[in-house]
Amino acid sequence: KYENILVPDPFSLVQKELQFISDRMRVAVQTDLPALANAAEYFFKYGAEGKRMRPTVLLLMASALSPVSNSGDVVRGGGEDVGRRMSSGDAFSSSSFRSSRNSAEEETVDLSPAHEVPSDNRQRQRRLAEITELIHVASLLHDDVLDGSATRRGLRALNLEVGNKLAILAGDFLLARASVTLASLRNVEVIELLSRVLEHLVKGEVMQMTQAKDEDERSGSGSSSSSSSSSSSSSSSIERYIEKSYYKTASLIGNSAKAVALLGGHSSETSEIAERFGRHLGLAFQFRDDVLDYIGDSSLLGKPTLGDLREGIATAPVLFAAEKFPELHSLIKRRFKEIGDVERAAKLVFESDGIEMASDLANEHRNLALDALEELPDIDCEFANTCRAALREITNRAVDRKK
Ligand code: FPP
Ligand code: MG
Ligand code: MG
Repeated sequence: KYENILVPDPFSLVQKELQFISDRMRVAVQTDLPALANAAEYFFKYGAEGKRMRPTVLLLMASALSPVSNSGDVVRGGGEDVGRRMSSGDAFSSSSFRSSRNSAEEETVDLSPAHEVPSDNRQRQRRLAEITELIHVASLLHDDVLDGSATRRGLRALNLEVGNKLAILAGDFLLARASVTLASLRNVEVIELLSRVLEHLVKGEVMQMTQAKDEDERSGSGSSSSSSSSSSSSSSSIERYIEKSYYKTASLIGNSAKAVALLGGHSSETSEIAERFGRHLGLAFQFRDDVLDYIGDSSLLGKPTLGDLREGIATAPVLFAAEKFPELHSLIKRRFKEIGDVERAAKLVFESDGIEMASDLANEHRNLALDALEELPDIDCEFANTCRAALREITNRAVDRKK
């Protein structure tokens, strides 16, 4: 069907707007307390920004749904969007500057304060992408404390730089700034969606932390009904792994994609499709990540393999392997903490079809994400269709990647 569509590079399609968002974030994390400012800006500096996968997907989704030109300008039919131009730093004129990669262009970056109500839909969608990235980075700061990580994005982890306490507080601060920006969107449904994501991130992390205990309760006492607190006590390990992955990874991108659609003024049907796309993309990405932790090239990945086993975490490959080698259950329960456990578990994973089944799971969700894109209402705009092709490309890369 898409034979004669050139595969676009997803990141270069949105490069200019991505730059605007990065510039905005650098301002969003400023504060007059130097210790806090230093910690908060750590991962927003040039070169420390990571792949910015989430803002890229969200900007592409915004453009995939609306007829806009490459520069982000509305070309037609945009209702209140028509004539949108970035106001050149009216409220923030002292700090308004040209986007660093954009010196030849007239457009200047919008650096209006976080609480100020954005002027149009595209601005609102950009702010949503900014909020999503702020939440993501906040979760990474907290994650690195919980995991005791030493590196992140090729840098020393912030917890090593400033200590656990300030790293946690910097994460809280990013969430606070994200909240103010979220309020500026004046959209209660979107506020609710993103607030639920925060709950999901915490739940995913706690599910991962208590996985071994759950495993024990389930396999130990059969289908005992005494633990009515856990709704998932009757589900399989794989089902709970998928649920955890949704909370930890897919909810943020799924609900943000839905929010971008709502902020673009699209129907609830279209917004649900956007959510479904983001959710399955997030799941596919996480499942591939968990496979790469076993089969990846550590020099490409920038971290040693089998990290999950070493951290005591059972992901899809070992959970599937346990169906063939039940002795793995006791290793999972004790979080691979006895001498030789990690090596034994890895050996059994490679002797089973765990890697293949986990890869199938990633593929299944890749296809569900691609299906969702197909269900978006047809649009008669070349750039929107190019952005859809870019979303397909990102989806395929999420699962075919080696790092
Ligand atoms: C990275 O996972 C971590 C996450 C995707 C979410 C972490 C969430 C929390 C710490 C809950 C607190 C939430 C907020 C909003 C502050 P990983 O450790 O598997 O991956 P890594 O290799 O990138 O460290
Ligand atoms: Mg971690
Ligand atoms: Mg973690």
